[in-house]
Amino acid sequence: MAGAQGGWVLTATARSPTNIAVIKYWGKRDETLILPVNDSISVTLDPDHLSATTTVAVSPSFDRDRMWLNGTEISLSGGRFQNCLREIRQRARDVENKEKGIHIRKEDWEKLHVHIASYNNFPTAAGLASSAAGFACLVFTLAKLMNVSEDGAALSSIARQGSGSACRSLYGGFVKWVKGEAANGSDSIAVQLVDESYWNDLVVIIAVVSSRQKETSSTSGMRDSVVTSTLLQHRAEVIVPSRILQMEEAIKNRNFGSFARLTCADSNQFHAVCLDTTPPIFYMNDTSHRVINTVERWSQFEGAPQVAYTFDAGPNAVLIAPSREVASLLLQRLLFFFPPPPDTKLEGYMVGDTSILQEAG
Ligand code: ADP
Ligand code: DP6
Ligand code: CO
Repeated sequence: MAGAQGGWVLTATARSPTNIAVIKYWGKRDETLILPVNDSISVTLDPDHLSATTTVAVSPSFDRDRMWLNGTEISLSGGRFQNCLREIRQRARDVENKEKGIHIRKEDWEKLHVHIASYNNFPTAAGLASSAAGFACLVFTLAKLMNVSEDGAALSSIARQGSGSACRSLYGGFVKWVKGEAANGSDSIAVQLVDESYWNDLVVIIAVVSSRQKETSSTSGMRDSVVTSTLLQHRAEVIVPSRILQMEEAIKNRNFGSFARLTCADSNQFHAVCLDTTPPIFYMNDTSHRVINTVERWSQFEGAPQVAYTFDAGPNAVLIAPSREVASLLLQRLLFFFPPPPDTKLEGYMVGDTSILQEAG
């Protein structure tokens, strides 16, 4: 390893968007490799609105790997961070920075330590898939720093070992995570169904009902569901396989009615599985239920779904409208039913007790 002076630091920075599942992943068949019990489909959001930004620094003066999340140091001892770091380090190549007079050889990466700083521009661990944006970004930034040549598919498989939903954030547009069959996870991969330009009339509105950290992480919630919920088994074996086919068809044909019906039904069934878990898990709260009611009443009145709603493992609503016109009507309805305090800027306004209403794409 050659460095001009001993005190050099080399950094890489990247940003990754979050993704929201319209057919949910909930349940693993392998906890270590993170292999799911069913396929899932998600839409990747615009990184300008909901994303993680990660900087990784390497220096011979660092004596161990460390990470800060939103400014607070967190432990890297969990298997997931270690798995991602190991997989990327194994693929690291020579890096030369002539300007700084640094040459890191492939074999040096095993001895060098990294410092990682990541920020989410949206609530962390609140059911807006921060783990998806976070691990996709971590893997991508490490690969950039270490000059890894693997393509998006390989990086996606590594991100999956950080958080399952992260494998879908390496692609834009609509993405399917195929559960695969192989015991080593080789065929459990994310594939892009259509890119972000294919159905670009869609508008996503995030109604942050609470930015507080959830009590039950997705990881432990789904572990309990796998062990105790019989509904989960039926969902994974019978319901999801047919819904995946219908959802792929709806996306291909840009059939918003079918897309909205499937999205809402799958969100509600996922939360039913949470209730069917012992002890039951309550991710949605009263405000979330009121948002569902607002949307459902509107659909009944018009005779067809006007917008789709979906809730991940948290109380925050993700609302998808078929056009800017409908999105603006939806915003008007939300502002009517959940009026903001006086003088609130719309961007930073919250639905119900503590929430934000934000247009995200
Ligand atoms: P969410 O619904 O936000 O995805 P999870 O319970 O699935 O919540 O995951 C939250 C965890 O994801 C955090 O405790 C942290 O370990 C990890 N995480 C969140 N953001 C990042 C990030 N930017 N970089 C790395 N890891 C992150
Ligand atoms: C409800 O990917 O956060 O958002 O793999 O244990 O990290 P781990 O779980 P995570 O679970 C996401 C669950 C979900 C649905 C989805 O994103 O498909
Ligand atoms: Co998550």
